[in-house]
Amino acid sequence: MQIRDLKLVNFRNYERLELEFNSYLNFIIGQNGMGKTNLVESIYILSLTKSFRTTNDFTLIKHNALKTKIEARIENIVLDKYSITISKEGKNVKINEKKVSRLSDYISKISVILFSPSDLRIIKDTPSIRRKMLNIEISQLNNSYLKKLQEYNQLVKQRNSYLKTMYINANASNEYLDILTSKIIDTGLFLSNARKKFVSLLNQNISDIFLNITNDIGLNIIYNSDYNDMTKEGLFELYKKSEERDIMLGKTTIGIHHDDIIFSLNGESLKDYGSEGQQKNAIIAMKLAEINIFYQLKKTYPILILDDLFSELDKEKIENIIGLLNHNIQTFITTTDLDKINLDLLEDYKIFKVSNEEVEEVNYE
Ligand SMILES: Nc1ncnc2c1ncn2[C@@H]1O[C@H](COP(=O)(O)OP(=O)(O)OP(=O)(O)O)[C@@H](O)[C@H]1O
Ligand SMILES: [Mg+2]
Repeated sequence: MQIRDLKLVNFRNYERLELEFNSYLNFIIGQNGMGKTNLVESIYILSLTKSFRTTNDFTLIKHNALKTKIEARIENIVLDKYSITISKEGKNVKINEKKVSRLSDYISKISVILFSPSDLRIIKDTPSIRRKMLNIEISQLNNSYLKKLQEYNQLVKQRNSYLKTMYINANASNEYLDILTSKIIDTGLFLSNARKKFVSLLNQNISDIFLNITNDIGLNIIYNSDYNDMTKEGLFELYKKSEERDIMLGKTTIGIHHDDIIFSLNGESLKDYGSEGQQKNAIIAMKLAEINIFYQLKKTYPILILDDLFSELDKEKIENIIGLLNHNIQTFITTTDLDKINLDLLEDYKIFKVSNEEVEEVNYE
């Protein structure tokens, strides 16, 4: 999968921008605050319809403008034009000028894998961040995942509100709770199996990649879930056992909304024992593992965005990482400092320099 060109109108600090990209490496260089992340953010939004750094879509519209538009031609066997417009009236997505009314029908079309500095939270933060990461990645691979997830969340909400009713009203029917529980289990099993499969695929790739970057062996990811290795009957019993507690608390305490994954290096949790560098490289190894998984399942490589990755790493690690990227992976790399990259080793790249709200392609000898 390749993004040929990009057109931005009133996006972040860009009033108007038109760029043609290289099919392999694209370096985006510039000083702090110039708009490097803004540029790759627009590609991410075109894929997932949401930003990775804000939940407020209006911040994406250039100050004093009323709407923003991101448009690109993307090649995935055939060349299609994708666009997204954001304004006060809402968000509009189009493929080849035709409006796609449901965002969930649009989202799995363009695949992007992003590393951003805040991804280090995937190891350090609370489980909800890791679940969000799983949801984003799996929904790009599995067309039904997002719909099922929305269904699941809705069911948990319904169950929680019914639990509250039961707390107040002792005559409330148990049958209705059982129906909701049963639906939650069906949907939850679908989601849990998808997550389990994804983690298992990650594990088939991640330790070799980590080894290639760091020379360390023994990285793997453990999937932790109430649903792991459970049958529908077993789960139903589990929900029954926690029914009283659930009614007391007014919420569903069992389920995949409590799932977590653990990064383990030689049996020790990276969250609790790992160094900063080990944590960073584990995340990068995971992203590169995801690329392999995408290729295995979709027979196409996703677009890779590495935002400010290199400021975290020494020259050797950077060389190792670029060495792991094959020529079919279109990659966008933002950096303030091109000195860390040995361009002599590379032959196929474009360099874009960002300054004063403009971007120009430059040649370095
Ligand atoms: N809606 C907007 N309208 C105008 N300018 C904006 C808007 N949103 C963000 N900006 C500007 O964009 C700039 C930040 O751009 P960006 O985050 O892409 O920088 P960067 O080049 O990635 O910097 P760094 O190297 O520090 O990561 C800031 O100057 C900010 O004021
Ligand atoms: Mg940035």
